[in-house]
Amino acid sequence: MKRCLVLLFCCSVLFSCDHTKRESRSPEETARDQRMAWWREARFGMFIHWGLYAIPAGEWKGEEVPGISEWVMARAAIPVSEYEQLAAQFNPKQFNADAWVKLARDAGMKYIVITAKHHDGFAMFDSEASLYNVTDATPFGRDPLKELAEACRKYQMKLGVYYSQAQDWHEPGGTYFNMEEGKPHWDPALPREPLMKYIEEKAVPQVKEILSKYGDIAVIWWDTPIGMTEEAAKKLKEVTDQYPNLIMNNRLYRPWPGDFSTPEQHIPPASPGDDWEVCMTMNTSWGFKRNDQNWKSSQTLIRMLVDIASKGGNLLLNVGPDATGQIPDSSVFRLQEIGHWMEKNGESIYGTVAGPFFKLPWGRCTQKIKNQETILYLHVFEWPKDQTLRVPGISARIKDVYLVSNPKQKFGFLFEDGDLLIRTPNATFDPVNTVIAVKARGKVKIASNMPVLQAGKVLLTADFADLHNPGYGIQAAVTGKGTAAYLTRWDDSRARLEWLFNTSEKGIFQCFAQVKSAGENRIRIKAGTHKPVELVVPATDGEWSRQLLGEIKLDTTGVTLFDLRPVQENWTGFELGTVELVKK
Ligand code: GLC
Repeated sequence: MKRCLVLLFCCSVLFSCDHTKRESRSPEETARDQRMAWWREARFGMFIHWGLYAIPAGEWKGEEVPGISEWVMARAAIPVSEYEQLAAQFNPKQFNADAWVKLARDAGMKYIVITAKHHDGFAMFDSEASLYNVTDATPFGRDPLKELAEACRKYQMKLGVYYSQAQDWHEPGGTYFNMEEGKPHWDPALPREPLMKYIEEKAVPQVKEILSKYGDIAVIWWDTPIGMTEEAAKKLKEVTDQYPNLIMNNRLYRPWPGDFSTPEQHIPPASPGDDWEVCMTMNTSWGFKRNDQNWKSSQTLIRMLVDIASKGGNLLLNVGPDATGQIPDSSVFRLQEIGHWMEKNGESIYGTVAGPFFKLPWGRCTQKIKNQETILYLHVFEWPKDQTLRVPGISARIKDVYLVSNPKQKFGFLFEDGDLLIRTPNATFDPVNTVIAVKARGKVKIASNMPVLQAGKVLLTADFADLHNPGYGIQAAVTGKGTAAYLTRWDDSRARLEWLFNTSEKGIFQCFAQVKSAGENRIRIKAGTHKPVELVVPATDGEWSRQLLGEIKLDTTGVTLFDLRPVQENWTGFELGTVELVKK
């Protein structure tokens, strides 16, 4: 609920003001602006999950362990003394820090965040605070963090570390995932000790080591503040406070916002706040998992980066190197493809701010506003078939319209009924995403293109929804365009949809949907601030049919978030076309 309100507030900010200007800043905010400057410019970074879990790679004792591989110790309830033995096998001879950093640089990434210690408690750096670390406990004996720090300096790459400050499954005082529900640690041989003992004896000293021994650390990426107390968080913050340029995420301690928020494995429908970073896997697991071949295409990844930049956020894209020290070929290949696109089009990502439009039917928009000039970067995912790209509701004094990858290629344009029409030749420049720059004098004025509920109705098409897949399992997908678009492969009851629309009308609305369903399912709809309602989607004998699902209530006006998700019990899935709200 609170998150929803923040989101709605931000939406109205997003669509109503110039986001390049951060007015009347307090001294703290100014300091933060300074610290965040490079990060806001960067837009794209590499997440690296690497640790002992790369050895089992998602299997234990010959059995596949469901879920993400870095959780194998918990998921397979592996006793501490048994998991520890992995260290003796860790010898990733192929590890080459230079090659990793170069790969990130060539992909167009500007920073790296690597797991210094994940929940398993094993330090991937040379630590005096705990001998359970990569130089002391493995035959490898090298310090990957040191080697990476050197390579990062060479390539001018910012280096950040992930540190699991609360969960530490190896320590008597560390927390674990279901501790807050009162469950015991799965290993009865691990005695319990107070959290503060672990914080003072391991977490604080290790964070000190990381921040003092490796040159400038740009970001500290905390995770899963399970069981975290204010006292513990303060102890860690005392250390990080010594480094005024250090950026931290919002996962140190739940009530603390940090410098940026961290939507995980999904892209929010609109900016969730000032600074935010989506962390995302290319397949489904963060750590290397041998059988996880559920790869997103390079096209999907490029468009994700653009979608995020168009809302003003960063993308931290993950790789999970294997136990030999290599980044899987499937990741390398995708990063190279992203790199090729970034090489030609990077200026439409770096240093841009959120575009002024809501989603555009053919793609997205990022922008730069500088020196009395605005550049809109139109990211065209679907190249027009009728040789006209329509940019809705815009008034601007346009100086130039050109192809970003080849500025000599100009495009003719004209205005029609308040829309800008760009003449687009019948040539495919880039099937993944062609970027057209529209350079204008001064500011451009945009009439919001967000769907509007008016005259008692709003029609929500599946291609305008934000689809949130859980990251694991079968991924639901939208195919088709406009009223012909529909959601398919909705097998996973965790996959959900969100739409934004604007309304000046409140009241009771009938909710109709185009559905194709073999069996009956239940969904839960939450519209705006009203409490969720449960609706039944009947079986339609596997035929498309327009069904009245029930009624919902809208009790606020303005930008409204419409959230539609499965009721998990007895979910069999169905295909979903348009959703329409009609006032009673
Ligand atoms: C989750 C998981 C963790 C992963 C992280 C990345 O919180 O616990 O394994 O490192 O997400 O965002």
